[in-house]
Amino acid sequence: MIFHTIYKNNRTFAPLLTRFNNKMEIFREIGQLTCYLKNKRLNGKKIGLVPTMGAFHEGHLTLVKRSVKENDITVCSIFVNPTQFNNPEDLEKYPRNVDKDIEMLKANCCDVVFCPEVSTMYRKERIVQIRLGYLEEIMEGKFRPGHFQGVGLIVTKLLNIVKPDRAYFGLKDLQQFVLVKKLVEELNIDVEICGVPTVRNEKGLALSSRNERLSEREKEQALIFNRSLRLAQEMLKNGGKIKEVRDVILKNFQKDNSVKLEYFEIVDSETLRNIDSLNDCDNASLCIAGYVGKVRLIDNISIN
Ligand code: PAF
Repeated sequence: MIFHTIYKNNRTFAPLLTRFNNKMEIFREIGQLTCYLKNKRLNGKKIGLVPTMGAFHEGHLTLVKRSVKENDITVCSIFVNPTQFNNPEDLEKYPRNVDKDIEMLKANCCDVVFCPEVSTMYRKERIVQIRLGYLEEIMEGKFRPGHFQGVGLIVTKLLNIVKPDRAYFGLKDLQQFVLVKKLVEELNIDVEICGVPTVRNEKGLALSSRNERLSEREKEQALIFNRSLRLAQEMLKNGGKIKEVRDVILKNFQKDNSVKLEYFEIVDSETLRNIDSLNDCDNASLCIAGYVGKVRLIDNISIN
């Protein structure tokens, strides 16, 4: 067994192509990964991709487990993508724990880990941009300018490199999921995009790598997001009007100084466009985002 670990700096680590005892492969270079996967594909193996930025919690592992169940080979990418961070402090503070992530992937039967350096994924001079029309201007896009252009670019690159049969995304990031679906449709990328339901803690808080930065008190305060979504869902199911429901939720946030609401939207789950009535679409979603202390959180639930 060979274990190669190069410590580039004190925060990230960069393993070379390494074979661990459970046969999980770790690649840092694109050429080695594509060559390995080409062979697998020639042998008729189905490939599942789980793109991540690391700092795993049970939500990530749910994506990995689903891919392992549905494909012959599961590739998990770990890459904190700088182009999707509009706030440099958020990028700096984004939790990184590649050693622990790799152990978790091994324990969950992942086959391949791809953890490239930034210089491997991006040339110094880049001219290609991915624009996503109205989808990059609403909700998350409004508060995080440029975020979805970065997501679109890195997801397109990962899909082109791995060429998976299926790719798995958490539905907690509903806007990202909808946008990736549109992207692969419009660019004719031959992959099935699979959405995996949000995993929550016992109190209802949606699991997120950012939760690591919340104190115990802030974790309690953050429950207002899920409580508001469930209250709104209940009101709508009982015939409440969209405007009334919005007013109730917005007022609840005004009463609570510990949390700063950025948006609460009731949208068509397919297009993410605002609706005036539940009759406007087949399924509606309630989407919310805001700050607890310095940490920005998002959540959503579907009406059905
Ligand atoms: O959801 C994430 O973790 C990221 O946005 C993704 C899809 C891995 C792209 O960097």
